Amino acid sequence: MSAVKRIWFLVLLFSSLYTYTFAQEIRFDQQSRVFRIDGGNVTYAFGINDENALQPLYWGGRLGANDHVGPAHTNRGHASFDLPSGSTPQEFEGWGAGLFYQPALKITFPDGNRDLVLHYVSHHIDGDNLTIQLKDISRNVTVDLKYTIDPNTGVLGRSAVITNKTTTPLLIEQAAAASWSLPHATDYWLYYLTGRWAGETNVQHEPVRPGTRLIESRRGSTGHQNNPWFAIERGNSGDQDSGDVWFGALAWSGSWRITVEQDTMQNVRITGGYNPFDFGYKLAPNEQLETPVFYGGFSQHGIGGASRLLHQFEISKILPEGPKPRPRPVLYNSWEATEFNVTEQGQEELAEKAAKIGVERFVMDDGWFGQRKDDHAGLGDWYVNKEKFPNGLKPLIDKVHSLGMDFGLWVEPEMVNPNSDLYRKHPDWVLNFEGRPRTEGRNQLVLNLARQDVRDYVFGFLDKLLTENDIAFLKWDYNRNWSEPGWPAVAPDEQKKVYVKYVDNLYSILKELREKHPKVEIESCSGGGGRVDLGILRYTDEVWTSDNTDPFDRLTIQDGFTYAYTPGVMMAWVTESPAGPNHSPRSLDYRFLSSMQGSLGIGSNLNHWSDADFATAKHLIAEYKEIRETVQHGALYRLISPENGSEQSATESVSADHSQAAVFAFLHSSQFGYPYPRLFLHGLDRDAQYQLHWITEKPGGNLPESASGAYWMGHGVDLHLDGDFQATAFRLEKAR
Ligand code: GLA
Repeated sequence: MSAVKRIWFLVLLFSSLYTYTFAQEIRFDQQSRVFRIDGGNVTYAFGINDENALQPLYWGGRLGANDHVGPAHTNRGHASFDLPSGSTPQEFEGWGAGLFYQPALKITFPDGNRDLVLHYVSHHIDGDNLTIQLKDISRNVTVDLKYTIDPNTGVLGRSAVITNKTTTPLLIEQAAAASWSLPHATDYWLYYLTGRWAGETNVQHEPVRPGTRLIESRRGSTGHQNNPWFAIERGNSGDQDSGDVWFGALAWSGSWRITVEQDTMQNVRITGGYNPFDFGYKLAPNEQLETPVFYGGFSQHGIGGASRLLHQFEISKILPEGPKPRPRPVLYNSWEATEFNVTEQGQEELAEKAAKIGVERFVMDDGWFGQRKDDHAGLGDWYVNKEKFPNGLKPLIDKVHSLGMDFGLWVEPEMVNPNSDLYRKHPDWVLNFEGRPRTEGRNQLVLNLARQDVRDYVFGFLDKLLTENDIAFLKWDYNRNWSEPGWPAVAPDEQKKVYVKYVDNLYSILKELREKHPKVEIESCSGGGGRVDLGILRYTDEVWTSDNTDPFDRLTIQDGFTYAYTPGVMMAWVTESPAGPNHSPRSLDYRFLSSMQGSLGIGSNLNHWSDADFATAKHLIAEYKEIRETVQHGALYRLISPENGSEQSATESVSADHSQAAVFAFLHSSQFGYPYPRLFLHGLDRDAQYQLHWITEKPGGNLPESASGAYWMGHGVDLHLDGDFQATAFRLEKAR
């Protein structure tokens, strides 16, 4: 064989091996008509049943390579009140043939027919992707179900593309991305997240009972009140790191709904997608609607293991800089220091102080543009305010650069104040119903981003801002939810498309901006954590967790946040004391340690700080830089949860190579002189030696200077914390 031929042979051999290896992840067994998807430690299987419908068969721990699941058989029903269609679980159910539980798709045809029965037509496997085509039994409407599998975490991505191949328009009244079925059991426990402005991501935990638990947003965006994430444990182990847990997260930043349903046959399914409330998507002939992606995973290591898998998945498959996102820089943000009262000199003075303590990014918040003196005016007018910045932003940006930091800027692109040039010129650009009042929130209205002209305006001013100024970071805010969601410029039966088109355009602006300005990073903020989901995280590097920066409240908010999202994207600022909603005084150490559990930022008014404060901050920022890779991208173990009024809380983060661990412990207040509970660490190499380094100045316990992984995990550590609002932290370094 000639050298060239030999090389070709090797190329062909390797490429076929490559295809073969990946093809192993998704298989179709012709004989039993069963699809099987394997990835990470997970197997997912479903089959084509005797009616030609797709029926879920298995979702759980990875099965043996030669194990067979199925085949699928239609259930004959329980009584005349539970017809076969309602008793047989389906992968993606059309509303028709007597379906009583939550449908994935509901359509009204122009002739009044509302019956939809979806049957298997064909499928296509391409590496980690599987597409299955379903079609209604008589109408020419197809649904392409898409499945992707992440080979490392076993997280599946599911979505659906609905195509109208008939000759008349039809109305989609309800469309889910996917419906997930759990193995038959009656002892499931659900976790989900609730909250409100300045009180996000509280963990709720309750048994799954007959009926439906609905978690949703009808607000036009993700919302503070519920988050599009769930986890379900079989049993109630009470242990963070053991038990079978199924979890899912919907990648959508508009109105959404997830239902957790236990039906009359005790089947438990979770259906999620567009919120059907006020939904109506008119699909013209040959038009398609592609749903958001609903991700789902499984862990045998409890709710803690589920979170760690999801974190890993987000880092490698969702975040724009994945699989190896840059560590988040330590930032300073001027909001709580100056509010709207920003000036060139004032910002420069803060920047000088921030640079001295090790801050890497200086962010100017609200107040720099238009006629913005308070929240009554200016939104929409994205020109630099000449009174505050007579020479534009350049002198401040240059100053920030000369101090060794990069520069970030606050924007709120989707909003307008009625008191603005933009609104005076384009009053028709906002969401509204003709002739009806326009309800304001924080004196602002929502621009209808579904309109092409609004989309072009928003992209245009942001592109100009980023082209003309050396900006490394945008804090992209969104400070209210929708009211009167009308779109009078289009025909009445097209108006409800706003729920989809708005978000599609938002994503397309973010995507295009990132492509055109690849060095710019973006934070998703919506009055704190009102827009945090896997949809927006595909285009943003971090999120503002909450407007509540009380370091004690934050322990609960941050704990809940990490159930669904990696701590790497969780921005946490050290702010003033006493401040926040509770006006409670907290030591600077305590404030820092609370914020160091996520992406560290400083939001205090540095003009109020003493020399001692600057020294503490400098020390702790340096310490943070030692552990930030571990905190942001490592494995998180919740050693003690702050939920349910716990007096203590503690976390541990372990680096991917197990060479470092960072431990944070907090005490609300001691009672009756009881000692702090012993902490048993996780994730270390048993036989390796680990050296102890205190992060806080004063050691918080009688700990050995060095011990084996077995000691830290098995013997555990006793910390000496007593009093009120105490905190301590240390790191362990593996001896080389
Ligand atoms: C929102 C944000 C704050 C701040 C203000 C500015 O509330 O969450 O961090 O940026 O807007 O107006």
